[in-house]
Amino acid sequence: MGEVDLASFRALLSPDGERVLEEVAARGGADERTMLGTLTALRRRYDAGLVSAALTQVRLRDRAQAKFGADAAGMYFTPAGVEQATRAVVAERHARRYADAGVLRVLDLCCGIGGDLVAFARAGLRVHGVDRDPLTLEVARANAAALGVAEMVTLGGGDVAEVPLGGWPAALPLPRHVIMLGTPNRPPRLARRLQRLWPYRLVNGECGRLLARAEFFTGLPPMAVPCTIVAGTGGWRGGWSPFGHDAHDGVVAVAEAEMDGPAFLAQVPVRHTFMMNDRRVRALLLNALDGVSPSGAGREER
Ligand SMILES: C[S@@+](CC[C@H](N)C(=O)[O-])C[C@H]1O[C@@H](n2cnc3c(N)ncnc32)[C@H](O)[C@@H]1O
Repeated sequence: MGEVDLASFRALLSPDGERVLEEVAARGGADERTMLGTLTALRRRYDAGLVSAALTQVRLRDRAQAKFGADAAGMYFTPAGVEQATRAVVAERHARRYADAGVLRVLDLCCGIGGDLVAFARAGLRVHGVDRDPLTLEVARANAAALGVAEMVTLGGGDVAEVPLGGWPAALPLPRHVIMLGTPNRPPRLARRLQRLWPYRLVNGECGRLLARAEFFTGLPPMAVPCTIVAGTGGWRGGWSPFGHDAHDGVVAVAEAEMDGPAFLAQVPVRHTFMMNDRRVRALLLNALDGVSPSGAGREER
């Protein structure tokens, strides 16, 4: 899967870019058997960079179908954006709760490529999205336009800790319920071990460094609202495992996900990376969003 950069993404939104995307889709889309022929044919008429960007985008749309269904075919993505986006079914349910509660506008901090953003807008809410990554922000803008909700959406770039929130109440209400998927709440042993290795430091940057510091966790404020923690137990255990015989999801041990305070911990036999895509985790999430007590929903299924 190719990377997506800002210049080639903008080119995709031009009339030529739209034509190339349409042609790629008409010639078999992300089907690898037709890709080479499509690439060769289109490169005779269009800029090679534009054709590669279109092929990458069509592959991403294909991958995003699992989250966005038929909408994915007209949306735009980055590789990280697809992975991180909220599934449409969850985002819609979430947005409906806001709409039912009479909320008229939403500040979507860290909006990504706009999975939640477009669901809020479709539910009739005005939404202002903020993201610090310029490409991701452009993709969110393109998605709002592609799904016909651009007039409900404004977007701003920058770090959410620094952007002025003029016009928004300074004292933001606390969320009613927090959900954590495989989130460490105590220093994860894997981060402490890997922090010595430069590839880990290169890939994980500041986030990886903080995960390896016990003081980071002890300095976090206590959880002030009810919380559901989903901890995976699908990691292999044994003498050779860095987790020994402790239950873990391959990255975070169950004991490292535990926290003090009003938290319910659900153990599900999944691995860390695939947690978001697991149907049992999805059911837990939807229950928590519906305000149904999750007690028992996360019992280990073997
Ligand atoms: C998990 S994604 C959001 C997914 C989004 N809810 C969706 O459904 O598409 C998190 C986003 O937060 C952004 N981000 C992370 N830290 C940020 C910060 N301090 N300020 C602004 N954006 C930030 C990242 O660039 C990334 O796009």
